[in-house]
Amino acid sequence: FICIFFKFLLLSDPELFPLQIVSRCDICVLQDVVDPELKAVKALVTSLNRYDEHHYEYVSSQSLGKTSDDLQQYVFIYRTHLVKQLGQHQYKGKAFVRPPFAVHFSCNKTDIKEFVLVPLHTDPDQAVQEIDWLYDVFEEVSAKWNNTNVMFLGDFHAGCAYVTRDDKKNIRLFTNSNFSWLIGDREDTTVTDQTNCPYDRIVVHGQSFLQAIRPFSGMVFNFGKEFRLKQAKVLKLSDHYPIEVRLKGSAPLLQATPLLVVGAIIRFVFPAL
Ligand SMILES: *[C@@H]1O[C@H](CO)[C@@H](O)[C@H](O)[C@H]1NC(C)=O
Ligand SMILES: *[C@@H]1O[C@H](CO)[C@@H](O)[C@H](O)[C@H]1NC(C)=O
Ligand SMILES: *[C@@H]1O[C@H](CO)[C@@H](O)[C@H](O)[C@H]1NC(C)=O
Repeated sequence: FICIFFKFLLLSDPELFPLQIVSRCDICVLQDVVDPELKAVKALVTSLNRYDEHHYEYVSSQSLGKTSDDLQQYVFIYRTHLVKQLGQHQYKGKAFVRPPFAVHFSCNKTDIKEFVLVPLHTDPDQAVQEIDWLYDVFEEVSAKWNNTNVMFLGDFHAGCAYVTRDDKKNIRLFTNSNFSWLIGDREDTTVTDQTNCPYDRIVVHGQSFLQAIRPFSGMVFNFGKEFRLKQAKVLKLSDHYPIEVRLKGSAPLLQATPLLVVGAIIRFVFPAL
């Protein structure tokens, strides 16, 4: 599964590239989605179902944010033959600007059969605090579903001026060794040459989840390179690259079995239609 967060500007005219990116994934997480009536999301899923051999469904959070002119949703898009949604939960504790929205999934084809995905798009002004609060989110969702296989992912603003090396001691997801960061501090998840920052991250809890992930599969997907797009064109789609991670499959991969891929982050901003 790949989870993708995308900044996605042109949905009235669904472009091929977003479809190609989303259809690499078994699960995509989109953040920064501004589409309260879900028109753009539905159009995207309809196009996917037409374009791709797999069948996709979506689940969305409510519009979240502090002010009415900046409300965003978290949206998951997933392949129904592979994964099943077991439950969803809107976190309400702590003062997140866009509180995490957790979804509990099951998948029979991966080593790990049940896991929880929790996206977060931090507020840059309180990124350190919000990343630290993910520990409280972990306690709540793992207790709710009796499952400690929890993966956090998204644009945490976890680098450059927002989160410094010194800040890490105040972030329990760093200080508690049960959490593993799969996108390292040296990555650059931003598109422009002007910045070199590992803002987008994937963090998993626990040894069993870590062992169910293909080693070194957490990475930034530079779709500009892959699709040979000019930087200006890439920037029209997003100012961040997606990040992604792959889960190990439980059975030897049959030829017909799609690669089991998890993770990824592109940020789609859907225009309010
Ligand atoms: C996995 O297998 C169980 C038991 O056979 C079944 O109930 C469930 O629907 C399957 N899950 C998926 C995603 O196919
Ligand atoms: C919670 O999960 C553990 C380990 O998977 C299991 O042994 C235990 O019975 C579960 N507890 C409940 C209340 O379901
Ligand atoms: C890490 O996880 C183990 C197993 O769940 C637990 O016993 C231990 O207390 C955890 N360590 C920390 C620092 O939370």
